[in-house]
Amino acid sequence: MKSNNLPIGIFDSGIGGTSIWKEIKALLPKESTIYLSDSKNAPYGEKSTQEIIDLSIKNTEFLLQQNCKLIVVACNTATTNAIKILRKKYTVPFIGIEPAIKPAALKTKTNIIGILATKGTLISELFEKTSSTIRQQIVIKEKIGTGLVELIESGEINSAEIKQLLTSYLQPMLEENVDCLVLGCTHYPYLIPHIREIVGDKMQIIDSGEAVARQTKAILEKYKLLNIDLINGTNQFYINKIKDVLETLLSKENMYITIDEKEF
Ligand code: SIN
Repeated sequence: MKSNNLPIGIFDSGIGGTSIWKEIKALLPKESTIYLSDSKNAPYGEKSTQEIIDLSIKNTEFLLQQNCKLIVVACNTATTNAIKILRKKYTVPFIGIEPAIKPAALKTKTNIIGILATKGTLISELFEKTSSTIRQQIVIKEKIGTGLVELIESGEINSAEIKQLLTSYLQPMLEENVDCLVLGCTHYPYLIPHIREIVGDKMQIIDSGEAVARQTKAILEKYKLLNIDLINGTNQFYINKIKDVLETLLSKENMYITIDEKEF
């Protein structure tokens, strides 16, 4: 098989990275994709750096066994803790997801931005490095989204509990004049309707999905790996936990999708 026709591999600690997968498919419908949802080990955000690195290596190995031509680390926590090591260890190109604090810094009018992310992301070296230059001009209010990933993974996206948690995280930001909210976890775009209800038009909500899709396209072009076939690519999902929640999440997609429950 020509390398152009090989799939793009995408992994996340769970089902949240499908928010990135959707953006990639919207921009690059001809690309085949293999998505790995490591839901059994979610959330990564509370794990040690070494555990996150080990899981990221395991996920990468699985996708490389499926001959993926490029890997998208569709998880902020795995990107901020492990992408440097993955890039050193493997020759395949990697795309990572960093919290979009730079775009937020350009958009804010109050000079106060908020970021909602996992503990693993917020305490990572990479986040510290990226945010330190911005902190010279902009105030960054950080909040760990404790409990959100777990509720999304168990299919409770619309539960009263998730709405209460979000209110408790975002109300203080409203009071502190935050006008741009960065979603620093790929699970959180699924919460945008609830976030909008809480913050109204007082905050711009910024996530990285579209930028990641554009970067994926640019890297495929750079390495001459774009799929030039005329037909749309196939979409395979692997999950190591019960597939119901993932199935529900993808049920609105107007695409042929296969989901396999598998131990990995
Ligand atoms: C997690 O597994 O804790 C969240 C994934 C992410 O950071 O995107």
